[in-house]
Amino acid sequence: MIILGIESSCDETSIAVIKDGKEILSNNISSQIEIHKEYGGVVPEIASRQHIKNIATVLEESLEQAKITLDDVDYIAVTYAPGLIGALLVGISFAKGLSYAKNIPIIPVHHIKGHIYANFLEHDVELPCISLVVSGGHTNIIYIDENHNFINIGETLDDAVGESCDKVARVLGLGYPGGPVIDKMYYKGDRNFLKITKPKVSRFDFSFSGIKTAIINFDNNMKMKNQEYKKEDLAASFLGTVVDILCDKTLDAAVEKNVKTIMLAGGVAANSLLRSQLTEKTAEKGIKVIYPSMKLCTDNAAMIAEAAYYKLKNSKNEEDCFAGLDLNGVASLMV
Ligand code: KG4
Ligand code: ZN
Repeated sequence: MIILGIESSCDETSIAVIKDGKEILSNNISSQIEIHKEYGGVVPEIASRQHIKNIATVLEESLEQAKITLDDVDYIAVTYAPGLIGALLVGISFAKGLSYAKNIPIIPVHHIKGHIYANFLEHDVELPCISLVVSGGHTNIIYIDENHNFINIGETLDDAVGESCDKVARVLGLGYPGGPVIDKMYYKGDRNFLKITKPKVSRFDFSFSGIKTAIINFDNNMKMKNQEYKKEDLAASFLGTVVDILCDKTLDAAVEKNVKTIMLAGGVAANSLLRSQLTEKTAEKGIKVIYPSMKLCTDNAAMIAEAAYYKLKNSKNEEDCFAGLDLNGVASLMV
């Protein structure tokens, strides 16, 4: 079974071909990071235009790499929510064009489910499990049962983790995206440099805006006093606090739900401290932590195709999975 995946929800145009839900024949990603860097974040209008400019080439290259033609494609999987609406609509319209021309059914995919299913491309996942979804737009703890039902049991009440990494990095002049830079700086800094109060948020919910503000206020104060400090120390204090919170809550959720596996998902799952600290903390409790390889953590279309594969596999009637040519994008939608 060949599924063509299409992802265009933010600043990556990606088209992938996967075979039988396991084999990635191609996963072509055209990143716009260099363009958005100049503005310190993603500019939605520019993102849409870049997707339009690139998507046909990304498809051509992806088919060529997979050594197939559109005639070999059984299903088209496309991200329809959540994301930047203009960006989403480019992928959706492109999918509709291919579907109409080649009579291939479209399977709409939720972006966050895609991030979670990235794990299924590389691991034999044991369900039920807990997934910590950490990306530029999301921070959720999701319980996934044996039948692949997703139950959201916790979420951020304000900023997403990736969003606060990017904002802190912007204020400190570290460039965009901030997550990978802060990841590296952590090891050159002292995480005990600034004591940051952890917010009191119930059970499995999160709040990161207070932590972000504490960092920004500290930096402003130092600037006002004309005092120097080591940015690595502040970055380490920030990341250390955030990762402690993510690990503690995820572990509590896994223990409460009595699961043996935790799956990391989303761009921030690429964070080396989060991966190592969570693995270390859970090992003591006999819980396994799995995460996708670096390339499958951030936005890509292989994960979208994989989510569609499982949608098909878990439905009694495959037609229930299909969308018509009236498929629309949704900017904001829970899993
Ligand atoms: O999942 P993703 O590619 O896009 C969204 O769906 O949002 O995630 C992008 C986010 C950005 O905020 C970026 O700073 C963060 O993931 N990120 C990281 C790392 N790599 C990417 N954050 C922390 N450490 C990393 N190594
Ligand atoms: Zn994403």
